[in-house]
Amino acid sequence: MESTLVLGIETSCDETGVAVVADGHEILSNQVASQIDLHRRYGGVFPEVASRQHILAVLPMLREAMSEAGVSWGDLDAVGVTYGPGLAGSLLVGVNAAKGIAWSLGVPLVGVNHLEGHIYSSWLDVPGMPERTHEFPFLALLVSGGHTELVLVEGHLRYRRLGGTIDDAAGEAFDKVARVLGLEYPGGPAIQEAAAKGDPKAYRFPRSWLPGTYDFSFSGLKTAVLRQVQRLEARAGVENGGNARRLTSTNATALPEQTMMDLAASFQDAVVDVLVEKTRRAAIELGVRHVCVCGGVSANDALRKAMLERMPVPVFMPPLSLCTDNGAMIAAAGYYRLTAGRTSGLDLDVVANLPLSAFYGQ
Ligand code: KG4
Ligand code: ZN
Repeated sequence: MESTLVLGIETSCDETGVAVVADGHEILSNQVASQIDLHRRYGGVFPEVASRQHILAVLPMLREAMSEAGVSWGDLDAVGVTYGPGLAGSLLVGVNAAKGIAWSLGVPLVGVNHLEGHIYSSWLDVPGMPERTHEFPFLALLVSGGHTELVLVEGHLRYRRLGGTIDDAAGEAFDKVARVLGLEYPGGPAIQEAAAKGDPKAYRFPRSWLPGTYDFSFSGLKTAVLRQVQRLEARAGVENGGNARRLTSTNATALPEQTMMDLAASFQDAVVDVLVEKTRRAAIELGVRHVCVCGGVSANDALRKAMLERMPVPVFMPPLSLCTDNGAMIAAAGYYRLTAGRTSGLDLDVVANLPLSAFYGQ
């Protein structure tokens, strides 16, 4: 039987991703151009810069992805594209490119929710790894820069939201705390690196359990780290006769390096503890077959290790290259939407804050 080939386009934030995926799981190509170096000087994603960069990158990336896949345009069966949530100007670049391709090839356009894409990243084949068989229902913990969601996946494209963050997303907490510690954007990888040399028990930061819910909260933890840094700075100031550098939100380098590493490790420990424990409880209470962890923060090695150690059921985690934003996950989700007949019209519009209600069960 012939494979179904879906082109996936992702431009919701600061990665231009273009991929060709066969039958929703076999990656034929997966090109990702990260804009991180451009945004670093701003300490976060600068929306206008992001959309301009997507414009520059998308056509060369399309050519690269098609050539790497070794297929011709006429072989494509559909074009999947992220239409939200994300930055409106960035999403528009991908959606317009996808519309042009779908229209000119006469193939269906498939609008994909970015969060759904992250969930489907766990369906993608990993070279050298045995094929994973998903059994419904399973639990998906989606942890990224913009989202922290615990979702029950009841079947293909059938999701029930159990809970999510009531303030900062997990990745956002990593990014903000990194600033407080004087580390570079993006904060996740920087904190992970610093934490590797720090003591996770050096500081006991608060954990928000929000009992009786599957919700998360990270803003109290972020504030606790900031307060601790300010206390340490003030103390250092007294010891130095009041000459310590004043703490600003982007410069905590007056702290000794080991202290900064201990703070990073203790913060990371608190985030991981809450994410793992709340997911573990949900897995037991709902009797799921397995757990998937996805989104940028699922690249975190402490989280990956703790998930594998503490979860009562098997845990699927995409390889690092598929944790952060990419086109392959959008093509995978697009394939399942295509086969379910849920394609979009050429009037598809971007929805920057694509509500969960339009995603779950739609
Ligand atoms: O999924 P993603 O690429 O983009 C969004 O959809 O938001 O996630 C980006 C987020 C950023 O907040 C980044 O700091 C975080 O994922 N991240 C990590 C790690 N790698 C990326 N957080 C913790 N540890 C990591 N190793
Ligand atoms: Zn993402």
